[in-house]
Amino acid sequence: MSHEKGLLISFEGSEGCGKSTQIRRIADRLEEIDHRDVIVTREPGGTIIGEDIRHLLMHADSSKSILPETELLLFAASRAQLVREIIFPAIENGKVVLCDRFLDSTTVYQGVARQIADDPVTMINQFAVGEIIPDLTIVIDIPPEVGFERIKHRVSDMPDRMEQENIEFYGKVRKGYLHLARSLPERFFVVDGNGDPEEIELEIWNEIHARFYSQE
Ligand code: TMP
Repeated sequence: MSHEKGLLISFEGSEGCGKSTQIRRIADRLEEIDHRDVIVTREPGGTIIGEDIRHLLMHADSSKSILPETELLLFAASRAQLVREIIFPAIENGKVVLCDRFLDSTTVYQGVARQIADDPVTMINQFAVGEIIPDLTIVIDIPPEVGFERIKHRVSDMPDRMEQENIEFYGKVRKGYLHLARSLPERFFVVDGNGDPEEIELEIWNEIHARFYSQE
């Protein structure tokens, strides 16, 4: 296996894009061909403190009055903990980390959709991640209406605070991701999330394979 150093792959996209399903599928495939441990984690969350912050941000009654600046700092706080407690040590030990959302969620949701200025968003993101930038970021792209329909028909959980945003908000999120991906083409790969899950999985897998496993 050529890739002895660790690897960080983040998955991004708006609500209902199918990230969690794809992450599970890709983790299974990686486990088959890569002898390194595969770690799946998420943001906000992934650590004990991070999961408490997730609850505060997405489910607690008190979050109804949260301000955009507070929201930004709490997402960053969860990320700072996840990077130092889980991601950095894993990469140092040559593991493969799949992260459900990472710093680009903040750039897009708090920066583009909530309209916090670029400078504080960039600075706070940098402070939270330190040296850790994903080797590859997969954006699963769907129109906001499709995501909304999927959330509505989900039987398991009640919509969280972020899922109660309006369609315009998710339109901005989508544009934000596409703009970011165009500006950093060497790090990003955009896949159409509207198709069949098997096809989406294959497209993502082909990209990961070509980038990290094709020299074997
Ligand atoms: P998810 O884990 O189900 O994707 O939900 C996380 C929600 O939090 C989602 O609406 C995106 C939002 N979010 C931000 O607004 N900023 C961030 O930095 C992160 C990580 C997530």
